[in-house]
Amino acid sequence: MDERKGRLTKDGIRIYQDADYAGMQAAGKLAATILDDIAPHVFVGQTTGEIDRIITQMVDDAGARSATIGYKGYQHASCISMNHVVCHGIPSEKKLKDGDILNIDVTVIVDGWFGDTSRMYVAGKLSRKSERLIQVTHDALFKGIEAVKPGNTFGDIGHAIQTYVEAHRMSVVRDFCGHGLGRVFHAPPNVLHYGRAGTGPILEEGMFFTIEPMVNLGRPETKVLADDWTAVTRDKSLSAQFEHSVGVTADGVEIFTQSPSGKFHPTYGE
Ligand code: MF3
Ligand code: CO
Ligand code: CO
Repeated sequence: MDERKGRLTKDGIRIYQDADYAGMQAAGKLAATILDDIAPHVFVGQTTGEIDRIITQMVDDAGARSATIGYKGYQHASCISMNHVVCHGIPSEKKLKDGDILNIDVTVIVDGWFGDTSRMYVAGKLSRKSERLIQVTHDALFKGIEAVKPGNTFGDIGHAIQTYVEAHRMSVVRDFCGHGLGRVFHAPPNVLHYGRAGTGPILEEGMFFTIEPMVNLGRPETKVLADDWTAVTRDKSLSAQFEHSVGVTADGVEIFTQSPSGKFHPTYGE
């Protein structure tokens, strides 16, 4: 066996072994399938609480576990973040209105492996400005993913995302970041969605982490509401997010949470 694998780097980043990719593939596939299957349940008049209950059932039916139920006291199988909510929105009994945009974020545990992914949905008709925000955020995630290969750095990922977003005159949230994951939910490193090329830890085969940029139409500042979870934009501008769990391979990247039916982007694959 290759003794370089299974170790921690000097930055505390775990280097997983070849056999571990299969665990991440299974967890990632379930999380992505749930996000595919929830799409028809997002409509005007629906509540995010009901969406979350359906997700809870889907996780259960798959014989898996939710990573978020019980996590630091969180009680739901998903975070659902609407309009100016940046992330960690708590499902509620408020009804969706025409034009609401929402991020649904699901993390499941399958045989001890964590699959973490989120994407955007719309209730009713998508406005032009929301459509632009969603498109730029989606494409920014893929700019980050394209920077993932051995020898590049985490700063290269952040730089690719920030450059792309700011070229479209939108802003990248600094207060939340991606994270290492694998047999744990949140592990080193912090995967920043901004930064300087060539800085930060060097990417190596066997690293597993999320990339999950949050992009605002207005300023990047956020605040957390009194419920201690819900993060919103300070200026009330709209915010969007997409998240994939990925692994560094010998020559690039593997996306563990790829949509089995090609529905990752809300207006593609319909
Ligand atoms: N899935 C989120 C992430 O991308 C974490 C949610 S933690 C919760 O890291 F407790 F808010 F659900
Ligand atoms: Co995550
Ligand atoms: Co997530």
